[in-house]
Amino acid sequence: MTQDELKQAVAHAAIRYVVDGEIVGVGTGSTANFFIDALGEIRHRIKGAVASSEATAARLAARGVPVFDLNEIDQIPVYIDGADEIDHSGAMIKGGGGALTREKIVASVAEKFICIADQSKLVDVLGKYPLPVEVIPMATSSVTRALRALGADPVLRMRDGAPYVTDNQGYILDLNGLQIHDPKALEQQINQLPGVVSVGLFALKGAAVCLLGTEQGVRAIEY
Ligand code: 5RP
Repeated sequence: MTQDELKQAVAHAAIRYVVDGEIVGVGTGSTANFFIDALGEIRHRIKGAVASSEATAARLAARGVPVFDLNEIDQIPVYIDGADEIDHSGAMIKGGGGALTREKIVASVAEKFICIADQSKLVDVLGKYPLPVEVIPMATSSVTRALRALGADPVLRMRDGAPYVTDNQGYILDLNGLQIHDPKALEQQINQLPGVVSVGLFALKGAAVCLLGTEQGVRAIEY
């Protein structure tokens, strides 16, 4: 099976976690896109969705799924999204697509985070994938220095020769060469640096379930 076929399989498997008549939180990225396509097919069963990015909102709307502003909602049963890495405790690195801040916000109001990922995303130790940190642009240099002091190697994410700009008008520093043995502690440590908007470590609130796409089928791992 190709990686896309594995992503499609987990996206379809995630439909059974969607609660009829409710609002579902929807992530960002290629796996989330397959989920949005599947959600479009059952749109009449749900009230609507909350999106974690402008791109996801546009794709949901194009498939006829009503998109709600998060401010209109108190709580949602599930948030469904991909990951760049997930470890055996359900802690994740996210933000490869640059949507980490809104992903973390929408996930924070969900009862359960359902991670959908192909088998290449499961790791013993997080950190081989560069860890994204969204920053307020004026704090790019000061946060870079602070992250270096923590032993990281931050690189400003670029697109078309200019800094990549998030949906929140922030910049992203990608941290290379980490081996994250205590993801909860690192998430807290980076969160408190002045100028950091959010870090793409999802450990304090990790996945409740991971639907992992493997050659043998979709494996549901509960944490
Ligand atoms: C976007 C994300 C994505 O969930 C993550 O990058 C995985 O993407 P994909 O499903 O395309 O492999 O965090 O900000």
